[in-house]
Amino acid sequence: MKHVIELKDIKKIYHIGGEDFAALAGITLNIKEGEFAALMGPSGSGKSTLMNILGCLDRPTSGSYKLGDKEVAHLSDDELAVVRNQHIGFVFQNFNLLSRISALDNVALPLIYAGVGRKERSERAMEKLRSVGLETWAHHKPNELSGGQRQRVAIARALVNNPHIIMADEPTGNLDTKSTKDIMRLFEALHEEHKTIILVTHEPEIAACANRQLLLSDGKITKDAGRGVVMDVI
Ligand SMILES: Nc1ncnc2c1ncn2[C@@H]1O[C@H](COP(=O)(O)OP(=O)(O)OP(=O)(O)O)[C@@H](O)[C@H]1O
Ligand SMILES: [Mg+2]
Repeated sequence: MKHVIELKDIKKIYHIGGEDFAALAGITLNIKEGEFAALMGPSGSGKSTLMNILGCLDRPTSGSYKLGDKEVAHLSDDELAVVRNQHIGFVFQNFNLLSRISALDNVALPLIYAGVGRKERSERAMEKLRSVGLETWAHHKPNELSGGQRQRVAIARALVNNPHIIMADEPTGNLDTKSTKDIMRLFEALHEEHKTIILVTHEPEIAACANRQLLLSDGKITKDAGRGVVMDVI
């Protein structure tokens, strides 16, 4: 199976108080099409930093990131936005919904940037809301929804452009047990549809839903385990 993501020696260096700090200290990682990978690691180990680079929300200081056949490590903000819009659906821990507009309009937002007309936007957004079981909540604003419902809206928004890669940074971090189960069912269904999924979590039961478990420590991948085979990388 072909690699959809190839990272080579990715570093992210922050300058703090006159000193260099490596939030990512050289990440080399390949993700195959259709893979479901869980990224774990202690707080501060670099998970969000890595996800933001993978999700084209940020750039590495050095190294190579090939998304499909395209080198994206050093694109401009505008170029990154185009790549993100075409390939990636991103789900955040705090949902990142706009509070003043309805669930439907939140889901339709990426389609505005993609240049889709109003009627088609509304139809496609409604179809995605239906797919996460929230059709009847379409005209409600985020603050009228529960946490689990908000995250389902955010997932519908991440899916509305039909991206082949879904990334999520602790998508169930703010949710109760039942909502967590609902959300994980959605990710499992996406995996069955052969989407490529990378998900950050602190919870081993959630990581167990994935078919590959990656451990990040001090900005490096220190374990890469899949389907019961545990392998020490470093
Ligand atoms: N903009 C920034 N400027 C300076 N340092 C940063 C910045 N962003 C992150 N860091 C540092 O990089 C390291 C990794 O942060 P990151 O947010 O990736 O951790 P994390 O693994 O996601 O942690 P958590 O589990 O708490 O979400 C931390 O030490 C953090 O302080
Ligand atoms: Mg984080």
